[in-house]
Amino acid sequence: MRRFEPSGPLRGGFAPPPDKSISHRAALFGAMSDVPVAVRNYLDSADTHSTVSALLTLGAGIEQSTEPGSLTVRGVGLHAPLEATGGQLNVGNSGTLLRLLPGWLAGQPGGVWTLDGDESIRRRPVDRVVEPLRMMGADCEAREGRLPPLQVRGAELVGIDYELPVASAQVKSCVLIAGMLAAGSTTISERTRSRDHTERILRRSRVPFERDGLKLTVSQVDELELDEIVVPGDPSSAAFMIAAAILVPDSRVVVREVGLNWTRTGFLQIARRMGAVIVGELEDPGTETDQEPSGELDVAHTSLEATTVAADEVPTAIDELTLVALLGAFADGETVVRGAQELRVKESDRIAGVVEGLGALGARIEELDDGFVVRGDGSPLRGGRIDARGDHRLAMLGAVAGLASTDGVEVVGMDSASVSYPEFEQDLAALLRG
Ligand code: S3P
Repeated sequence: MRRFEPSGPLRGGFAPPPDKSISHRAALFGAMSDVPVAVRNYLDSADTHSTVSALLTLGAGIEQSTEPGSLTVRGVGLHAPLEATGGQLNVGNSGTLLRLLPGWLAGQPGGVWTLDGDESIRRRPVDRVVEPLRMMGADCEAREGRLPPLQVRGAELVGIDYELPVASAQVKSCVLIAGMLAAGSTTISERTRSRDHTERILRRSRVPFERDGLKLTVSQVDELELDEIVVPGDPSSAAFMIAAAILVPDSRVVVREVGLNWTRTGFLQIARRMGAVIVGELEDPGTETDQEPSGELDVAHTSLEATTVAADEVPTAIDELTLVALLGAFADGETVVRGAQELRVKESDRIAGVVEGLGALGARIEELDDGFVVRGDGSPLRGGRIDARGDHRLAMLGAVAGLASTDGVEVVGMDSASVSYPEFEQDLAALLRG
């Protein structure tokens, strides 16, 4: 149990940890490449260690250089003879690894793998990847048809036309990866834009890939042409410090080298709409590129107004929506988040977690099937105790709530922050020292 007392202002600058989503993809694409890929600024966290371990099991060589975060990935190639590596793969707590890796394995005829992980991963649905992979010709079996362990039996794949039933970048990425191995071409239709890191890496790798509005087409390819991936800072990790700077009076924080890909900046847009002062240039919505932009943000404390988050904004802010609830608890008026039912199948049920968690700290928050309503009058939360439910983002939410509360917050399970942000408490302490 950790206690976070009401604090003085956060001051100074910090660089958030490397992006978790891009780190997973960098290592995976490196492993699928025939030539060595240099990855700079790879995230050192529990989730990204799981990816390195799984790829080592699959035969990739991963060397750490003396520069922190620099790796050389010596891949086995897209169409590697992987079947001899068949067996158990432990994805730990990583939903991204659980959903992306089957896309590659499904296209390896003769191989059979079983993906499994911790207690939380056993509650994460995999039917969302089983369905398209089966349509492409792979044989996949999940517990009760929808949960891990997930068995993937590789096959010669064929391209499909697939409409994504959920706005999930993980499912989209799985099908895109399988699409590189499938005969002909594979077309995916999204209902709403979700994070596009995989698409940017496909372009960098010179894979035949096109986007036409919400339609993406990838064609079969023999090999990837990729040499280096530089991972920017994680906007989802930075969001906790940004929220703390917005909520704690007199704060002023400069966030350096943070990823500003427009498919990830929904939280910044929502916070600005609530009145937050966040100075910095974000990538233009709709930008199509093979680069991952990064830059600086200058954040200061302000009072906030309530807002409504619509369903089409949800995917670009999916991992920060619990922070929108926290901002809402300090804002004047009724903040509503809808169309966010995906939060129920994250590392924990984040709708239940945030409603119970912030409710116990004094927030007037109500649960909806697909989101929540928070009513604030512009005054701070009282404080109390919050259970992280083994979920890294709920743990960090509790810490930020404590700093901005009147009585402090005890967080049960703070250690789960190491899944995405092992240095969270040190970075926070540095900003509190000014
Ligand atoms: C991720 C996509 C999101 C996000 C997760 C990471 C990714 O999940 O919540 O933390 O790296 O693609 P979904 O795509 O399933 O919504």
